[in-house]
Amino acid sequence: MKKAYIETYGCQMNVNDTEVIFAILREAGYERTEKMEEAGLVMANTCSIRDNAEQRIWGRLDVFNQQKKARPGVLVGIVGCMAERLKDKLLDNGKVDLVVGPDAYRSLPRLLEAITPDKPQIDVLLSRDETYADITPVRTDRTGISAFISIMRGCNNVCSYCVVPYTRGAERSRDAHSIIREACDVYSRGYKEVTLLGQNVDSYLWKSSDETVNFARLLERVAAIAPDLRVRFATSHPKDISDEVIETMAAHPNICRHIHLPVQSGSSRMLEKMRRKYDREWYLERVAKIRSLIPDCGLTTDVIAGFCSETEEDHRETLSLMEEVGFDWAFMFAYSERPGTLAQRNYPDDVPADVKNRRLNEIIELQNRKSLERYRAQVGKEVEVLVEGPSKRDPAQLCGRASNNMMCVFPALDRKSGTYVKVKVKDCTSATLICE
Ligand code: SAH
Ligand code: SF4
Ligand code: F3S
Repeated sequence: MKKAYIETYGCQMNVNDTEVIFAILREAGYERTEKMEEAGLVMANTCSIRDNAEQRIWGRLDVFNQQKKARPGVLVGIVGCMAERLKDKLLDNGKVDLVVGPDAYRSLPRLLEAITPDKPQIDVLLSRDETYADITPVRTDRTGISAFISIMRGCNNVCSYCVVPYTRGAERSRDAHSIIREACDVYSRGYKEVTLLGQNVDSYLWKSSDETVNFARLLERVAAIAPDLRVRFATSHPKDISDEVIETMAAHPNICRHIHLPVQSGSSRMLEKMRRKYDREWYLERVAKIRSLIPDCGLTTDVIAGFCSETEEDHRETLSLMEEVGFDWAFMFAYSERPGTLAQRNYPDDVPADVKNRRLNEIIELQNRKSLERYRAQVGKEVEVLVEGPSKRDPAQLCGRASNNMMCVFPALDRKSGTYVKVKVKDCTSATLICE
């Protein structure tokens, strides 16, 4: 069998897409390898979210091309969001044989068949209904414990800074039965955790002739598969996360106590300009609701520093919101202008780079302090951990996550991966609970 090697960049959805791609490539006679040097097909599943994500891919393309030079016949492919954004521009320098967008993976076998040295192949058509519902992903996680399941694709939100609606197309929800089937299937193969993925899971909505399933109902059904199957999900949108979803979480102990709720900014003026369709007060109200129904819920977020026209006052509002909420963890970014987005067309990217970076550093510093506080508050508590495997730093220790998504390390003893253990938190860093 020929071998395919894929590097994955970007979000968890891309990780799952790579698993779908491996399943489709199997039809074309390729099996998965983790060694680039033995692959006949070398690909990157790419991300366009910020400019530096794309710059990294250009660097990898040079590395892939060394393979091509050393072993004639090796094919190089760019798939995913950057393929969709740049289309045939990726073919300009002769380094790429194959360009495939996120909705066109089914055409991979046909395209691979048609490639010749002077005829690279491209398919970047977006679809209204493709969800790859019938494809069983080839799992690439190392542990066999935690699986990603995509429940929807695309995004209808058009946040003004964001490239995703252009690279992933319109939002569509996957057949609920196929999601349940996939979750049952991984559970029967020994997995103990599934993460339901979408850009905005709260707007999941699937209808058939006799039923309508929203996200809360879907969560409930996945949670009902087995009490020892943990259910996680990402990403929630503050404008759409409903009381029904929060109540469903509260009612099912195996739905993990963690919500990733990207705020982006603490300034209502910025949120309006970002077209997030909520303001600071709305966000804080959602957090209050979550904490009143699920007091121990872990909360994480995304923040963008230095969006168009952001003032010191706007920036201080972001800091004060972060201070007030006290997130466990955050992904924090400097605003990166993306071609074709509403922001790029309508607003100058006018916060100077040094100001953006200074604000970003202030945000990171504040979050590090908050993370440490949040982790410290767990010391002395008993938490239930799903054992994932040996800790990276010390093989005599195991690691795994608490329900609230905090990473825990604890002495291995004779515990096995995929089992639940109760541990006591005795110390912490700002990203790990040290337990016994
Ligand atoms: N669908 C999710 C997020 C997807 S992108 C949501 O709506 O929250 C992941 C994160 O990347 C975003 O939450 C945002 O914080 C960041 N991001 C997106 N576009 C960006 C840009 N142009 N510059 C900097 N950060 C960006
Ligand atoms: Fe981008 Fe907004 Fe959609 Fe998230 S909800 S993917 S930030 S457009
Ligand atoms: Fe990146 Fe595309 Fe995901 S732009 S963040 S890989 S949806």
